[in-house]
Amino acid sequence: MSGPYEQAYSRSISDPDGFWGEAAEEISWYKKWDKVLDDSNKPFYRWFKGGEVNTCYNAIDRHVEAGHADRLALIYDSPVTGTVRTYTYSELQKEVAGFAGALAAQGVGKGDRVIIYMPMIPEAAISMLACARIGAVHSVVFGGFASSELAVRINDAQPKVIVSASCGIEGAKVLDYKPLLDGAIEMARHKPSALIIKQRPEKVATLNAPRDLDWDEVVKSSQPADCVSVAATDPLYILYTSGTTGEPKGVVRDNGGHLVALKWTMKNIYDINPGEVFWAASDVGWVVGHSYIVYAPLIHGATTIIYEGKPVGTPDAGAFWRMISQHKVKALFTAPTAFRAIKREDPKAELMKKYDLSDFKILFLAGERTDPDTLEWAQTALDRPVIDHWWQTETGWAIAADCMGLEYLPVKPGSPTKPVPGWNVQVLDETNNEVPRGQIGAICVKLPLPPGALPTLWNNDKRFVDSYLTEYPGYYMTADAGYMDEDGYVYIMARTDDVINVAGHRLSTGAMEEVLSRHPDVAECAVVGVADSFKGQLPVGFMVLKMGVTKPNDVIVKEVVQMVREYIGPVAAFKTATVVDRLPKTRSGKILRGTIQKIADNEPWKMPATIDDPAILDEIREALEGIGYASAREKEAQPSAGE
Ligand code: COA
Ligand code: AMP
Repeated sequence: MSGPYEQAYSRSISDPDGFWGEAAEEISWYKKWDKVLDDSNKPFYRWFKGGEVNTCYNAIDRHVEAGHADRLALIYDSPVTGTVRTYTYSELQKEVAGFAGALAAQGVGKGDRVIIYMPMIPEAAISMLACARIGAVHSVVFGGFASSELAVRINDAQPKVIVSASCGIEGAKVLDYKPLLDGAIEMARHKPSALIIKQRPEKVATLNAPRDLDWDEVVKSSQPADCVSVAATDPLYILYTSGTTGEPKGVVRDNGGHLVALKWTMKNIYDINPGEVFWAASDVGWVVGHSYIVYAPLIHGATTIIYEGKPVGTPDAGAFWRMISQHKVKALFTAPTAFRAIKREDPKAELMKKYDLSDFKILFLAGERTDPDTLEWAQTALDRPVIDHWWQTETGWAIAADCMGLEYLPVKPGSPTKPVPGWNVQVLDETNNEVPRGQIGAICVKLPLPPGALPTLWNNDKRFVDSYLTEYPGYYMTADAGYMDEDGYVYIMARTDDVINVAGHRLSTGAMEEVLSRHPDVAECAVVGVADSFKGQLPVGFMVLKMGVTKPNDVIVKEVVQMVREYIGPVAAFKTATVVDRLPKTRSGKILRGTIQKIADNEPWKMPATIDDPAILDEIREALEGIGYASAREKEAQPSAGE
């Protein structure tokens, strides 16, 4: 007899229309869909075509109308400013309608784009929901990105308005946002007509009329706006994410499919009921923040938390336990790196003893693989289920997870458990055939993707098809490699592209290489992600200098480190680079990044058969030793993937 998970999974694959059509009954529609899944234009699929809906209405207004006006919708907890502020559903409705009106007064309407560049303050969520309310498309840019990254997104999304704050607060640092915004707008070809700034007392920005507007004043002088009806297939947001090149991919999310999928996940994956407190300790700039700080908990009628702090240092490694206890959190969702930070400072979890965690039931981890050490530490310290689950910006919600509301399956360390209903996960070889269980291959999802997954890339159907749907026809390529075991558990081993994962943040080494190449003394370069016991991975740069350069190497290294900070942002955590005479390449000229990475990680590696000159690897090893990395001598093993 198959259990509830197995039954739900099989039905979602054999009868997606029935499965998702039923889930869609949980959403309030202005007009029901004509078709659950429209597959008339393959490989583009559309969910709930013909349906009319509003995401903000489903996240706020309908709960107020259903008698839950006084239920807590949002808790803002900011140890960096010493603030705790709460919003009931009716208070949030008032704030969101007010700001939606302010946006409308600036001429923002259905389909117009709004870029949101915000720290973790309630106004970040309020502005996202306000866009949804009037049918505008938001694009949130993570605060750790620098001006030029913001400029690239301004050019691509072409926003009418940018919404921001006067500053962000990172631990003890107050970061002035205004110069960054001015710099980005100056750099961008597209110019927004207005910049709306939420002034914060920690650092008040100088506003330049007529372009720059004060949040409070524009709200005061506008009429609140009501929800408008949009097509289920209309875009709700664009979220840029790192790809292979420096040009980020604009992942599009629709309204209808996203609503249906996220609502379904709250009970079935996270086991949360309306009225309970769910805390995703992430940032609104990432997909986790979009889905599980802002949209899903509110759509479900739960209480969500905006936390402006860190796992450690604000003020100590007991911060998460204080939050859980104070706000009666039932489930926490964060990245393994946050737990590694806590473990590093409080290895015996002594600080936990100070707090009453009796409401806390489950810890969910994602953003990078949960290493078995961290898993075990968290399980022992918390004495509760610790669930690793795997997903991507593109998918919007988990592809593989232990669906705690359906059935708690046994946890296997190193695995995010099984494919979630809706995701037909298969591990393929280069000929598009499934590999035997236990064998590593490309992890792909058979089309159609379930509701809530990206329907395309912003203004770039071609790049969507080329990046995800071409290499394995009939499938979505996740760009993760791994395997499934005999029990159908998924294991994610590595990315197959140039994406690395630093402290749960997704970054492109290709983008960093583009920055290094801009240095006038650099002839060629490679950036690889090397293992780091705290942040998971860290980028390390290798540079070959142009002939005749006299500047000392350490000066050039300092300059490129500064350049990455300036062009990409502090979040890249690019702090280490070294100068080498040559880079190891294949005879066809491809840089052997995988081999460099294996040498750095002190992992077994094998001389690639196609290497141009094997002696170069000794030079690389010496260079790595010079900057404190591993010194493995050649070991007999597999060649690196693709090399
Ligand atoms: N705005 C501006 N700067 C930011 C920023 C933001 N929103 N987020 C990070 N930065 C800066 C940091 O201040 C740091 O700057 P520095 O080089 O001047 O010190 C730099 O970017 C690197 O940040 P980070 O990699 O986050 O390192 P950290 O040492 O500050 O913190 C952790 C380490 C583990 C505490 C932190 O990375 C963390 O909480 N990670 C969880 C990640 C997460 O939630 N991911 C989402 C998936 S669930
Ligand atoms: P992002 O788009 O920022 O969410 O990053 C997605 C990538 O992070 C995935 O393609 C994986 O490489 C990695 N990732 C996210 N969650 C997990 C997980 N639970 N286990 C392993 N890798 C993960």
